[in-house]
Amino acid sequence: MDENIFSKVDDYLIDLFSLEDGVLKKTKQSIVENGMPEISVSANQGQFLYMMAKLCNAKRILEIGTLGGYSTIFLARALGDPGKLVSIEIDPKHAKVAENNIARAGLSDKVQVLVGDALKILPTLEKDFAPVDLFFIDADKTQYVSYFDLAMKLARPGTVILADNVIRDGKVMDKNSSDESAIGARKYNEMLSKSDEVITSVVQQVGHKDYDGIAISIVK
Ligand code: SAH
Ligand code: DHB
Ligand code: MG
Repeated sequence: MDENIFSKVDDYLIDLFSLEDGVLKKTKQSIVENGMPEISVSANQGQFLYMMAKLCNAKRILEIGTLGGYSTIFLARALGDPGKLVSIEIDPKHAKVAENNIARAGLSDKVQVLVGDALKILPTLEKDFAPVDLFFIDADKTQYVSYFDLAMKLARPGTVILADNVIRDGKVMDKNSSDESAIGARKYNEMLSKSDEVITSVVQQVGHKDYDGIAISIVK
């Protein structure tokens, strides 16, 4: 099949449902202008995140991997009042760009970007930011299992844990792959398949981004 059709349909849907407003367009622009990687979720994927947060009536959202705040804006827009989103970002430059974009979106009062390694920051959140209603794991794929373990400490029955990029062009199937991200995602999927603590559905995704997928887990 012509893979370009997936991008064309993505455009069709983004246009039909008006999924990317000026604030989101400026956020994407800022990522390009600052030479940051163009790996934000697509607008359709962002809308999916927004739906997930709405479905679980999220009041506390925790994102791991902010980049320019593109997915952050979709998620934070789903928050009710009161509602708060904490996003963890290891790169101070990314965090600064994200904070600008979040301010432009009028979401600064609801969103806090914490700068540092999520592995170090997550254990400090137990007192002030738990239980979390929804997690979006989207930082380095090599640490996904550790992020999950730390997320579970901040979770309650019913908490939703989303993990981006768990298909990686199908490379997750390949036992002999040397792609670190694919290896990390493969380990994550395996862990989920064996876990008694969550139920999971992995959804394959196509569109502007390469063929990939998202793991949707619910804490039992
Ligand atoms: N969620 C964003 C994309 C995130 S890209 C979106 O869809 O719009 C992944 C981000 O994770 C990068 O900005 C990277 O700097 C950050 N990151 C990588 N390792 C990290 C770590 N250990 N802790 C926190 N952030 C990390
Ligand atoms: C990469 C990271 C992502 O979070 C993503 O959605 C796509 C690609 C990457 O590191 O290549
Ligand atoms: Mg991602």
